[in-house]
Amino acid sequence: MTRWPAEAIWEEVFAVLPGFSVEVLPEVDSTNSELMRRARAGLCDPVLLVAERQTAGRGRLGRDWQSDTQGVGATLTFSLGLPLQPEDWSGLSLAVGLSVVQSLHPDLQLKWPNDIWWQGRKLAGILIETASAGDQRYAVIGIGINIMPRDGDGLRTPPAALQELMPGIDAPEVLQRVATPLVHALLAFVTQGFAPLRAGFHARDLLYGQAVVCTDGTQGTARGVDAAGVLLVHTEHGIVKINSSEVSVRPAPGASPSSS
Ligand code: BTN
Repeated sequence: MTRWPAEAIWEEVFAVLPGFSVEVLPEVDSTNSELMRRARAGLCDPVLLVAERQTAGRGRLGRDWQSDTQGVGATLTFSLGLPLQPEDWSGLSLAVGLSVVQSLHPDLQLKWPNDIWWQGRKLAGILIETASAGDQRYAVIGIGINIMPRDGDGLRTPPAALQELMPGIDAPEVLQRVATPLVHALLAFVTQGFAPLRAGFHARDLLYGQAVVCTDGTQGTARGVDAAGVLLVHTEHGIVKINSSEVSVRPAPGASPSSS
């Protein structure tokens, strides 16, 4: 049976998040779905929900998030649910990603807006959803991190796994490293927003200086993000701001990293 650092995390967090609890489930459809159901039923206390197995993990843009193909421990899947009332929500997913990479390894990079990559392959994904909680919002921040290398599963780019760059690390240790800093990052985000994190994001920005194509047709060179976390693309018409979560970004085929 996997030993999870539930108590250690609770002890680190409860003082800053009253009512906080840590829960580990052997199986659930999706930790995000579970916390969203609870929030809609009025259960809006802060909680860290870890699932050893998800049967219907969800990704962004309605995609599936597959994590149970290699057994328990191959992927760390959890959601942090908490009431949140920032003045400005923009840049939240970037703040979450930045906190996770800073807790794990200097070589990890962020791919705007939500992904964590290593050596050209996706290592982790973030799904943020919100529900209303009285006069506040309840945020559900779901994170899936590949821990063990996976066999090729038909994806064009095989996913990266944390054990490739941190041999021997396991899911409980990863949770222990990321959970408490993430809570602190969220509390700081509420008061300060994304702007103070911009330089930190740029230091990890996988797309910076890359030729990119957006699904809305925008093409150019990624030039980082503005103080609200909006992607800046230098096009032939000048800087274009890419804001929508419906936009995906990928390097333009055959383009050199420095072209604009
Ligand atoms: C993405 O890359 O599209 C986001 C993936 C997010 C996956 C995590 S795993 C824990 C939480 N529960 C879910 O169903 N999804 C998120």
